[in-house]
Amino acid sequence: MVRDLAGTTALVTGAAKRIGRAIALALAREGADIVVHYSASQKAALDTCREIETLGRRAWPIKADFAGGRPAGYEGLVEKAGNLAGGLGILVNSASIFPASTLNNVALKDFNESMELNAWAPFVLARDFARLYGKGKILNLIDTRVTGYDWNHAAYIWSKHVLMAMTRMMAIEFAPDIAVNGISPGLILPPPGKDEKYLLEMGKTVPLKKLGTAEEVAGAAVFLLTSEFITGEVVRVDGGRHLWEYTRGPHPD
Ligand SMILES: NC(=O)c1ccc[n+]([C@@H]2O[C@H](COP(=O)([O-])OP(=O)(O)OC[C@H]3O[C@@H](n4cnc5c(N)ncnc54)[C@H](OP(=O)(O)O)[C@@H]3O)[C@@H](O)[C@H]2O)c1
Repeated sequence: MVRDLAGTTALVTGAAKRIGRAIALALAREGADIVVHYSASQKAALDTCREIETLGRRAWPIKADFAGGRPAGYEGLVEKAGNLAGGLGILVNSASIFPASTLNNVALKDFNESMELNAWAPFVLARDFARLYGKGKILNLIDTRVTGYDWNHAAYIWSKHVLMAMTRMMAIEFAPDIAVNGISPGLILPPPGKDEKYLLEMGKTVPLKKLGTAEEVAGAAVFLLTSEFITGEVVRVDGGRHLWEYTRGPHPD
């Protein structure tokens, strides 16, 4: 049975901007209160919180840097967020890094950084969520290129492969009271420092011949987080880009 999210609180990582922000706002529109995680983007996080409040929901900003320091910022974050908000019913792992690396130049440091930020941190947050709250929903943001690969972001795409494997393992291990799903976005927003031209160049690999929007990803998030009978699923929001692998060989980007 599908229900709305009234009475639920979601922790959304990387919610100050872009896709994380769109998901936070979409969940708030469905009635959820939101803990807005950010690392560097404090001002944008406070803007997201204000916008959530104008929707009539409660919002709490929470800062944590997932890189570097020991203990890492993701350790204990779920407990802190739950203490702020009086419990959590949803965890959305959207925070991520997207560094360039190729098979020729990738180093162990790159591998470790992407693996920690993009796979280990979401896993620790999810495991803490399961231990502390014992029921609810978890959503991981993956990447449609796990269907094939991304030769310009080798360490990054490895970490997303691991996150996809973790999503399925957790769906089994955390059942029946916690559903764990993923979304694999395609060409949605250009990475920081690039403009839309960067994505449009790659648009030829998209059967629907357009770029996606953060709101389109957020719509899929609402669908998965309000479903009572979907777990271990990874929904691609990519205009069909993953089909390229089956039809024309590797991506030309
Ligand atoms: N954009 C796309 O087209 C696309 C395509 C495929 C997959 N995805 C996936 O979808 C998700 C959202 O995408 P996006 O483009 O919105 O992501 P993004 O802008 O690249 O990153 C989201 C947030 O991650 C946070 N972050 C970065 N380093 C961090 C650190 N050391 N500690 C804690 N947080 C950190 C940042 O928060 P602060 O700004 O507060 O530092 C940033 O705003 C990601 O998982 C991404 O891999 C996106």
